[in-house]
Order: sequence, then C-alpha cells, then structure tokens
Amino acid sequence: MLCAVGVAAVAGALVAGQAASPGGAATHDLSAPAADTVSYKEDVLPIFQARCARCHGAEDEEGEVVAEVSLILINYERLMMGSEFGPVITAGDPADSWLLEMITEGDMPPEGEGDKVPEEEIAVIRQWIEEGAKNN
Ligand code: HEC
Repeated sequence: MLCAVGVAAVAGALVAGQAASPGGAATHDLSAPAADTVSYKEDVLPIFQARCARCHGAEDEEGEVVAEVSLILINYERLMMGSEFGPVITAGDPADSWLLEMITEGDMPPEGEGDKVPEEEIAVIRQWIEEGAKNN
C-alpha cells in the first residue's frame, strides 16, 4: 500500500515536471555555442542548408540528392567522405579541416554567390569538429 502511494507520487511529479516545460522549450541560442554539445542535425546542417545546399547538394522533388559539385554537405556520410579531392573535415582537428578554412577565409560561398558565413556560425562548426564531428 505504502509502495503504491510512493509510485503514484513519483508519477505525479513526472507529469507535473513535463507540464512545467511545454515542448521542452528547446530554443537554440547560436550566440552561445560553447554551452553545450553541438549537433550535426540541429546546429550544423541548418547552416549548410541555408548557405551551401544550393550548390553542395540540393534535393529534387523525388528527394534525390542532386548537386553541382562533388562535395555534398547535407548528408553526414557524404560530408565526411569529402569531395573528389579528398576529405574536408578532420574529426577533432579544426586546424586541419579544409572546409573550416574555406569559410573562415571567406572562400566559400564563392564571391558574389552569398554572404560570408558569420563568426557565430563558424564557431558552431568549429566546435562540432572539435567535439569529434559526430553524426549526432
Ligand atoms: C554558388 C555555389 C556554391 C555555394 C553557395 C557554395 N559553394 Fe562550396 N564550392 C563550389 C564550387 C563550384 C566548388 C569547387 C568545385 C568542386 O568542389 O567540385 C566548391 C568547393 C568547396 C569546397 C572544397 C571542396 C574540394 O575539395 O574541392 C568546400 C570545403 C566548400 N566548397 C564548402 C562550402 C561551404 C561550407 C559552403 C556554404 C557556407 C559553400 N561551399 C557554398 C560552389 C559553391
């Protein structure tokens, strides 16, 4: 009897806890990426989709990946495979990651083809590489 009451109390607390934060309130604050782990899917991919996918892997209406260049950025496996010239990301080593160098130098997107990637987005990608460039 005591035991059942205890379980009911815990279950009640869990429900109350969930109700207190509707939807988990998962707002992403890009200005403070150092606070938690960077996710490929939630943090890095949206940057590539917004700024790079037009040339590095957009999808057609069938969902097939079509691209102008050999490097596809909107699919984790393809991103880590790199381009026809080799890898563009070295997991754990931002200084040895060609992709990071290109966006830091302002070489990608190409001149006249889009704004330079802002510092805070570069920081997100740098941190993701530092954390091992995981498929997370
Ligand atoms: C207007 C089209 C265009 C956009 C937008 C663009 N790129 Fe590129 N990118 C190219 C072309 C063209 C090349 C060189 C040819 C190739 O790789 O086949 C290239 C090459 C690269 C390379 C070198 C790959 C290699 O080994 O050849 C990297 C890394 C890269 N882009 C990253 C990016 C990132 C990151 C973005 C978004 C922030 C971006 N690019 C946006 C067209 C674009």
